[in-house]
Amino acid sequence: MTRETTRVAIIGAGPAGLLLGWALRRAGIDAVIVENRSVEYILARVRAGVLEQGSVDTLKRLGVGDGVATNGLIHDGIYLQFAGERHHVDFNELIGRTVTVYGQQAVVADLIDAHKHDGSPIYFESSDVAVHDIESPSPRVTFGHRGEEHDLHADFVVGADGFHGVCRPSIPSSALTAYERSYPYAWLGILATVPPSTDELIYCLHEDGFAMHSMRSMEVSRLYLQVDPSESIENWSDERIWDALHTRLGVPGWTLHEGEITEKSITPMRSFVTSTLNCGSLFLAGDAGHIVPPTGAKGLNSAIADVTILADALIDHYADDDVALRRYSDVALGRQWRIQQFSQWMTQMLHRHPGGSADHEFDYRSQLGQLDYTTSSTHAMRSLAEQYTGLPL
Ligand code: PHB
Repeated sequence: MTRETTRVAIIGAGPAGLLLGWALRRAGIDAVIVENRSVEYILARVRAGVLEQGSVDTLKRLGVGDGVATNGLIHDGIYLQFAGERHHVDFNELIGRTVTVYGQQAVVADLIDAHKHDGSPIYFESSDVAVHDIESPSPRVTFGHRGEEHDLHADFVVGADGFHGVCRPSIPSSALTAYERSYPYAWLGILATVPPSTDELIYCLHEDGFAMHSMRSMEVSRLYLQVDPSESIENWSDERIWDALHTRLGVPGWTLHEGEITEKSITPMRSFVTSTLNCGSLFLAGDAGHIVPPTGAKGLNSAIADVTILADALIDHYADDDVALRRYSDVALGRQWRIQQFSQWMTQMLHRHPGGSADHEFDYRSQLGQLDYTTSSTHAMRSLAEQYTGLPL
C-alpha cells in the first residue's frame, strides 16, 4: 500500500478535474488527479464543441488558452431554422459577445499537455477508485494503479468524475435529493470529414424532428438528428443519415456537402441536478452534479464555471478565508438552475414531441410561434444571446 498526501484529491481527468487541478497548481496548492480511463480513451471521445466567451476568457487567464486562441473558430451568432426558413441571430451585433467553436477533446488535450509540463500528477487507468471519510476533515481516496494499492490522504476530495462517477453516490442518500427530467428523444451525432456547409451553427426544427449542423474545424463537420431514444445506430446507414439531414436542414439555394462519416453514436438526453454539491470534505463539479440536454451547449461551460468558482474558493480557504467554500454549492447551483432553465427552453422549442395526439400538433404550432417571436423580437434575441454566450459568474 502506497500512502500519499495532498491537499486536494480530484477524481476525474475530464475538463472539470483537469482545469481545477491546473488552477490550484498555479496557485501553489498541491492536487492529485485520479482517473479510471486511459489517456487515449479520454482524448478520443467526441464531446461538446462550443465555448462561451467567459469560458475562453478563463482558459486564457489560466494560461491554457493558446490552443483555443489559435484554432478556435469565433462565431458571432447562430442560425435558427423553422418552417423551411433560416434566420440569423447575431449575438455580437445584439450584445457585443461571441462564442468559440473548439472541441472539448481539444480543451482536454491542451490541459493534459499543460499538466505534463508543469502540473499535478495524474493517475490514468486507476482501478477500484473509492472515497472514504468524506464527513471528516481528513478524507481519503483509495485506488489501484499499475498493480499498486494507493491510499491518498487529502484535505478535500473533488468529484469531477461525471454523471456515472463514484463520488455523488458516496454522499449519503439522506443528504441529497436528485431533481431530474428525461426527454422522449435522443440525438444521433456524426463527425464527417467535410468542410462545414455553414459559417455558423444551424439549429433546426423540422416536421420530422430536430437537426443541427455544427463543426469542429474548417475540415470537419459535426451534425445531429433527433431520433427516438430506443433507436439503434445499426438502423442508420450513412445514406439514411445524409438523407434525413438533407430533408431537415435543406433550404432553397443552399447545399449540404456530404463527406466520410468517421464517428456515429446516439446519446439520450436528460436534465439532472443534485440538491447539493457539497457534503463534508467532498465537493462535486461538472457532470457529477448536473447534466443538461446538449441543445444549449452548456455542459462543458457549466463544468468550467463550477471549477472557476471552486478553485477561487479553495484558494481563499488556504488564505484563511472559508466564506466562499461554504457558499460554493449554493453559488454554483444558483447559476446552474438558470442554465437548466435555458437548456430546457432551447430543447423544448426545437424538438418535435413524439406522439400523434392533438396536443402534439398544438405543441408543434406553438413552437413555431415561439421561434417566430424569438427570431423577430430584439428583446427575445437579446435574451437568447445573453444566455447562449454565457451568464456572468
Ligand atoms: C457540437 O458541436 O457538438 C454541439 C454544438 C452545439 C450544441 C451541441 C453540440 O448545442
